[in-house]
Parts: sequence; structure tokens; C-alpha cells
Amino acid sequence: MDFSDKRVLVTGGTRGIGRAVVEAFVASGASVAINGRTAQSAASTIDALGGGVRLVAAPGNVGTVAGCTAVVKAAIAALGGLDVLVNSAGVARDAPVEDVDEAQWDETLDVNLKGVFFCSREALGALRESGGNIVNVASDAGLMGTPGLVVYCASKGGVVNMTRAMALELAPTVRVNCVCPGYVDTDMIRRDFIDRSDDPAAAEQALTDYAPLKRIASPGEIATAILYLASDDARFVTGAALQIDGGTTAGR
Ligand SMILES: NC(=O)c1ccc[n+]([C@@H]2O[C@H](COP(=O)([O-])OP(=O)(O)OC[C@H]3O[C@@H](n4cnc5c(N)ncnc54)[C@H](O)[C@@H]3O)[C@@H](O)[C@H]2O)c1
Repeated sequence: MDFSDKRVLVTGGTRGIGRAVVEAFVASGASVAINGRTAQSAASTIDALGGGVRLVAAPGNVGTVAGCTAVVKAAIAALGGLDVLVNSAGVARDAPVEDVDEAQWDETLDVNLKGVFFCSREALGALRESGGNIVNVASDAGLMGTPGLVVYCASKGGVVNMTRAMALELAPTVRVNCVCPGYVDTDMIRRDFIDRSDDPAAAEQALTDYAPLKRIASPGEIATAILYLASDDARFVTGAALQIDGGTTAGR
């Protein structure tokens, strides 16, 4: 896919799926603003990717409205406009309902749902000008329930349906889509679900067996789908929730 002359902002672009999305857009010719929570994480990602004029930093916490505003404004100023916004920043923590406190609820909803909305709102003027589009990173947990991840499911279900509503409101000028990945091999599942388990090997095997296709996805596989949705090839696609989950949400 050719994204030459396209200007892209990726939230949560310093690690995992977001980082793979940054790499794929850069390889396709785009200029990319990388958001990470800190200036240091964005700068070190740019260094690791070799720097150059097509990579700029847009650090900040997308869990607050002020943070979203600052991140998007910095990206638009540095890139001279915006063609694609990828909302990939997210957090996940498993806990039984009884153990969920207000702080966990707020952090999860603030980053995963509020951040997506307010980054999109801030980017809207520039996206209307360019006829651009938004791709949100939701989850299979936005399409079905997962025990132990009730708060995460609430946030991602919100992302899926917000994507649909926003797609209708912004059509025909700006397209809005989301991807719904199953388990993907990133820090999120290694740190939070595998390494913290009493038996990491068994935990990894359980995540591998979860999808009918019996493996964990690579971040690059999710990036490929995101670039498709962001590209002109998907010019008749809006309001879609594209599952990349090895068949998990196809049914049991
Ligand atoms: N890994 C999976 O199995 C999986 C599955 C489905 C959906 N997802 C979703 O994919 C997205 C990316 O997750 P990942 O697996 O790459 O996780 P990750 O932990 O590897 O990366 C998350 C990224 O989000 C950033 N981030 C977190 N909070 C932030 C904040 N307040 N402000 C700015 N940046 C912030 C982190 O700095 C990091 O760059 C998330 O939305 C996640 O919910 C992941």
C-alpha cells in the first residue's frame, strides 16, 4: 500500500501493535507522529526506527482530555495536517468484579474509551480538511464477554459502538473503522497475563489454544489490517469492526 505524502498519528505508537503500525506506515511512505505517554518513550522509539524527517514525536497522556488535545495539536503542527488517526493506546488489567476499584475503572475507561473519543474530536477539523479517516484498535473483547476482563470489555464494547456512531455522523467526509484483535504477542499479554501467572508456560498455552486457529497473532498482522482500513482500497468501508482473532468471535 502506498501512503506517500500521507500524515498519520498513532497513539500508543511506542510499543506493541501501535509500534508495528508506525513501522508499517513508515515503510509505506507515510510521515508519522508517534505518541507515547512520555517524551522519552516517543523519542527513543524514533531513535530505534532510525529517525529522519518522516518521524515526529507527539507525547502525552491520552487518558485526559487535555492530554488528547496536546497530542493531536502537536502532531498536526509537526506534520502540517492529518490524513489518518490510529487510536491504539490502551490498557488491560484482569480482576474479578469484586476486586475492581474506582481507580481501575477510571484508568481503563479513560485511556481506552475517553481517549479514543477526545483524540478523534481534536483531529476532526484536520481530517475533514484532508478527507481522512480514523482506525480504532478495539478488541474481540468488544464483541463478546470475557470473564475477568469485565471493565476492559466495557471499554472495548464502547469503542466498537462509538466507531459505528461516529462513522455515521462523519460520513461522507471522514471514514471511521475499528479492528478487533484476539490475543496478540505484545507486552500487554506477556506482562499482564503470562508473566504474572503462577505457571507462565501454561498461561501462554491457554492463550495459544484460545483461538480456533490455535496461535497468538503477531503485531504486524494487526498492522496490515489497520493499513488496509486506512487506505483508499477501503474507501467504501466505514463503521466496520474487523475481527482479526483467529476465529474466536465466529462462535462456539
Ligand atoms: N495484545 C493483545 O492481545 C490485544 C488484543 C486486542 C486488543 N488490543 C488492544 O491493542 C492496543 C495496543 O495494545 P498492545 O497489545 O500493543 O499493548 P502494549 O502494552 O504493548 O502497548 C500499549 C501502548 O499504549 C500506550 N499507552 C498506554 N496508556 C497510555 C496513555 N495514557 N497515554 C498514551 N499512551 C498510552 C503505551 O505507552 C504503549 O505504547 C490496545 O488498545 C489494546 O487494548 C491488544
